[in-house]
Amino acid sequence: MKILFLDQSGKLGGAELCLADIAQQFHATSLVGVFAEGSFPEYLRKRNIPVKILTQQTLQVQKNSGFLAGLKSLNRLIPLITTVAQLSKQYDLLYANTQKALVVGALASLLSRRPLVYHLHDIVSPDHFSTVNRRIIITLANRAALVIANSQASREAFIQAGGHGDKVHVIYNGFNLENYLHCANQREHLQAELVSILPQLEDRTPPFIVGHFSRLSPWKGQDVLIEALQYCPHNVTALLVGDALFGEQAYGQQLHQQIKSLNLEHRVKFLGFRSDIPQLMTACDLVTHTSTAPEPFGRVIVEAMLCGTPVVAAAAGGAVELIDHGQTGWLTPPGDAKKLADIINTCQQQASQSKAIAQKAQQRAIQSFNLAATNLQISQLLSRISNCEINNIRNPS
Ligand code: UDP
Ligand code: GLC
Repeated sequence: MKILFLDQSGKLGGAELCLADIAQQFHATSLVGVFAEGSFPEYLRKRNIPVKILTQQTLQVQKNSGFLAGLKSLNRLIPLITTVAQLSKQYDLLYANTQKALVVGALASLLSRRPLVYHLHDIVSPDHFSTVNRRIIITLANRAALVIANSQASREAFIQAGGHGDKVHVIYNGFNLENYLHCANQREHLQAELVSILPQLEDRTPPFIVGHFSRLSPWKGQDVLIEALQYCPHNVTALLVGDALFGEQAYGQQLHQQIKSLNLEHRVKFLGFRSDIPQLMTACDLVTHTSTAPEPFGRVIVEAMLCGTPVVAAAAGGAVELIDHGQTGWLTPPGDAKKLADIINTCQQQASQSKAIAQKAQQRAIQSFNLAATNLQISQLLSRISNCEINNIRNPS
């Protein structure tokens, strides 16, 4: 099957990591068209996945943009739509992975008469999108032959916003299990390595390392973890992994100020963007997910489970589908720093129970989020779409 994948982002976020794993299986016949140069196309090249940068123009529209910004950008999108329409004639289908890719892909698919698939990685709600952008997403996605939603939560929000439920299939992100299980076997070594880069406590107490692995963005709620540190013993240390990917540097500054005003400089370490997530997660005592708006899926939650590291997540969106509270991890109300601190403290005090929960979570994640299985589901759905389209061309009604 020949697929033209489309993604607007030059940066490597969760939706891009997910797409790379899907595109890998079609690499011999397919192409990933990206709307900007950057770490994402570089990542694809390293994995020998064909990639093409489709425009040199910066597309400015944000998730909360209004009507006028949308109109202005449409002007800039026209040459890109024409390019994609031409290119897509060499492929069986168009696969849009992000919101702007959906706009370009939907209009190009009309021109080239190729079926459109939309991978929905977002919760289409006022928490995340302006009214105009929600309308655009729903109108265009309703024209697609298939919508793949990354969780039930994303599917439900899509339907509530006016999306056609009959074309939405929920397929969770899949993960290459070996990357994580291999690290889980080297836990002690990885922990010692991580402890060696942290400042030593005066009384030589070993640190209890709480990891946070997300881009720096207000809705990812790193500030909630920092606030929670105040209610935790002095050896609890936060490790913040991730960078501001989408122009949210001001939030990074805000976090530094918060840390200073709470006198927590010696208890928080920023590592920036890292490519060794499984190693770092394995070395943590606990992984926290603190999104203050519903998380569409939450790759970091599953990754922590696969590493066998206990995980606590904010109870909203896809996160509640991933964790069974008290069985395979913990859920706390979004934005509630005190409840988060309670879980951090319980996890530190009851190490053997936490370990048992993490082991159960690891087994659950191995069963439910295996990349080989999710890729098979996706390729079966895509074959159905492209066969159906070929039949329509041969036997027009
Ligand atoms: N990630 C990474 N390096 C970092 C921080 C995060 O590779 O420094 C990865 C992380 O392991 C996860 C992805 O980025 O796979 C983020 O996906 P998630 O679904 O958690 O959130 P998103 O940022 O896509 O909303
Ligand atoms: C998006 C969502 C995130 C999800 C990822 C992969 O980036 O914000 O929750 O895990 O896509 O589907």
